[in-house]
Amino acid sequence: MIVDQAEALRELVAEDRAASYRPVGQAAGYPARRATTLAVTSGKGGVGKTSVSVNLAVQLARMGRRVILLDADLGTANADVVCNINPPRNLSHVVAGRCSLRQSLIEAPGGFRLIAGASGLSQMAALSEFERGRLMDQMRELEEDADLILVDTGAGVGPNVLGFLVAVDQILVVTTPEPTAITDAYAVIKTVCRLQDDLDIRLLVNMVHGEREAREVFDRVSGVCRRFLGTAPRFAGHVLSDTRVPQAVRRRQPFVLEHPACPASMCMQRLAHRIDRHAATPREHGLLKRMAAWLIG
Ligand SMILES: Nc1ncnc2c1ncn2[C@@H]1O[C@H](COP(=O)(O)OP(=O)(O)OP(=O)(O)O)[C@@H](O)[C@H]1O
Ligand SMILES: [Mg+2]
Repeated sequence: MIVDQAEALRELVAEDRAASYRPVGQAAGYPARRATTLAVTSGKGGVGKTSVSVNLAVQLARMGRRVILLDADLGTANADVVCNINPPRNLSHVVAGRCSLRQSLIEAPGGFRLIAGASGLSQMAALSEFERGRLMDQMRELEEDADLILVDTGAGVGPNVLGFLVAVDQILVVTTPEPTAITDAYAVIKTVCRLQDDLDIRLLVNMVHGEREAREVFDRVSGVCRRFLGTAPRFAGHVLSDTRVPQAVRRRQPFVLEHPACPASMCMQRLAHRIDRHAATPREHGLLKRMAAWLIG
């Protein structure tokens, strides 16, 4: 079965290379090709992955991009809660084969589309080869349907998280200035770098009081990475600590919609523009190829 799966994946990769994708309503400024994929991850929980993912999705959608946010936190998913959505279908239905990823897309505030996560579902490692293959095929379909696919992963380095990290075009590691968050961010970077050495990893420092503090955190992490891993992440930017963020969560609204001019929203705008610029540059490999490389071995 595993050999068959690997063979099928090789064929798909060959097909992927040969395929000329039909752009579906491609947004202006984007080459006629697949979506850029970006995972928002962290070592420590509670550092702001979901806040960043949701508000980044809103911000990019407001810039005219077709954005899909996949809430891939299979343990404690909550992007739907932050957006005040009661999703009829979520990732657990997709995994169970009861609907497709595309069928589970829901319109979210601000104009992006959400695939809600599944709280309480066990690790992706528990998925069979068949289920993984099916999920992968469906993600490939989505790539033709969006400019950007954001993936909000769970915290830490479990197999499901790592699977997404090695598959996406860019990894945004979120940390705060807390020593425990910094140490755990380094642990994630170390683990993914050991799995694959050509990843585009960027560090976003959340809940800071100014850019200088963020730079100091970044310098510490990148210094340790260079010393022990021989490579370092790039600086993605910072998000200021802002009381409007938890306030908006309590009101179940993305803060960039509720308080578009607050300090955290201004940071999200800057981040969205940076990511957008990066997304408009062509890349060599598709999601499928990367995922296949991970699955085949
Ligand atoms: N820039 C910020 N300023 C102030 N509070 C923030 C900021 N970013 C996030 N928070 C708050 O931190 C808490 C955790 O944020 P969030 O749920 O986004 O983290 P997470 O990394 O997704 O957590 P988990 O690992 O549980 O999924 C929330 O209460 C949120 O309002
Ligand atoms: Mg979260």
